[in-house]
Amino acid sequence: MAEAAGARIVWPVVEIRHLTSDDLDAALDNRRRAFGPLSGGAAETWRKLVSPMLPEGRYLGAFDGSRLLGTARVNPYVQWWHGRPQSMGGVASVTVAPEDRGRGVGRALMDAAIERCAELGHAVSALYPATTPLYRSAGYEHAGVLQRVTLPSEALRTLGGPGGAAGAVKLRRMGPADAAELVALIGRVHAATRASGPLCFDERTWRLWLEDDDDFCYLAEDGFVVYRWSDGNIEVDNLLAGSEATARALWSMVGSASSVAKSVTACVDPADPVLWMLRERSKDEVTQTRWMFRLIDLPAAVEGRGFPAGVRVETPVEVTDSRRPGNTGAWLLRVDGGSGSVTRRDAASGEGAHGDATRLTIGGMSALFAGVPTATLRRAGLLTGGSPDADDALDAAFGCSAYMIDYF
Ligand SMILES: CC(C)(COP(=O)(O)OP(=O)(O)OC[C@H]1O[C@@H](n2cnc3c(N)ncnc32)[C@H](O)[C@@H]1OP(=O)(O)O)[C@@H](O)C(=O)NCCC(=O)NCCS
Repeated sequence: MAEAAGARIVWPVVEIRHLTSDDLDAALDNRRRAFGPLSGGAAETWRKLVSPMLPEGRYLGAFDGSRLLGTARVNPYVQWWHGRPQSMGGVASVTVAPEDRGRGVGRALMDAAIERCAELGHAVSALYPATTPLYRSAGYEHAGVLQRVTLPSEALRTLGGPGGAAGAVKLRRMGPADAAELVALIGRVHAATRASGPLCFDERTWRLWLEDDDDFCYLAEDGFVVYRWSDGNIEVDNLLAGSEATARALWSMVGSASSVAKSVTACVDPADPVLWMLRERSKDEVTQTRWMFRLIDLPAAVEGRGFPAGVRVETPVEVTDSRRPGNTGAWLLRVDGGSGSVTRRDAASGEGAHGDATRLTIGGMSALFAGVPTATLRRAGLLTGGSPDADDALDAAFGCSAYMIDYF
């Protein structure tokens, strides 16, 4: 598909093209039939969110003549892998009209979305699946988690301590004008914590989220929180802290609602420090939503990923990717000094078809990249060949517990 908005491509069954503002009513109708009703205010926010993406060719529509059959959107995100930011295409709003389901429209849209990710320079892509087979067949694999934990507000309120270090942390209300500062702060914290998996919205999307009067948004030097009321309790959308003092200041402020709100539900890193600060912890009350991940451009993704500084790896891998043949082939994976690369192994020099290479489908390679252990991939049939030593090396390089704190 060409990069300009309005470019067209013809699929065997349907035509896929970029949506324009004239298509938004039909897209909204489709969205309602796919995911349920949207209130007037939510529909208005949705229009504000997607409108700037139209001229960028980020909203794809499958058409039968002038009739919209289905949609898929590629959101512009940055995602951190071992503390390094990568350009990530977040695939969302995959919808097919009820009367057109089951005849390949969803699959055609996913093929187009993957192609579009590549054209937009997203080396990796992620999505929250409502169903797995459609995305797995497109090369995505289960990778990480979005974890919601429910905590007693009173336990959070006391985290600040009487006149403790948290008292010295300055917090201020933030609004849309703080979007740039917030994006920079998120980048600093994810880099410093060598985070794997979390994403950041672009500034214009943050401006939109920070406009919501029902959200309470506070900024510190090295942290922030976005939270709101939800059925008499508190829901934390986002809380990120780069230091103990800021974590205590933010969590204790949220917990200060404890006279009214008995519990706080929060999306957090499963290894968020707050879980190690609580005085009592035995059974965690958590729900997990899974997200799937795909490498769009294998060499660019490996080069853009961070790796643990002490790990040194040189091992052959063979990858198969029927949808993006540029990823297919025999590669030499090297990791050294916190950086990685894959280079093609030259068949002519006799290096091409080693029997000892670790062999992965693109789904398996994507899951490995996202930290899924080789022992899991091997027993799930997503990784073959190689050796126990190579497995250890791959785990040392890629191993992580990937998480997100934002749903999209
Ligand atoms: C999910 C959805 C997009 C699929 O679109 P579709 O055009 O019917 O999908 P396709 O005909 O291209 O089918 C592709 C594959 O997905 C599978 N699939 C489709 N819908 C499925 C479902 N609800 N549950 C499980 N598998 C499903 C198909 O069986 C097919 O796999 P197969 O070839 O191995 O049998 C569509 O049903 C829809 O809009 N649902 C409501 C909204 C939604 O859930 N969107 C996804 C959000 S992440």
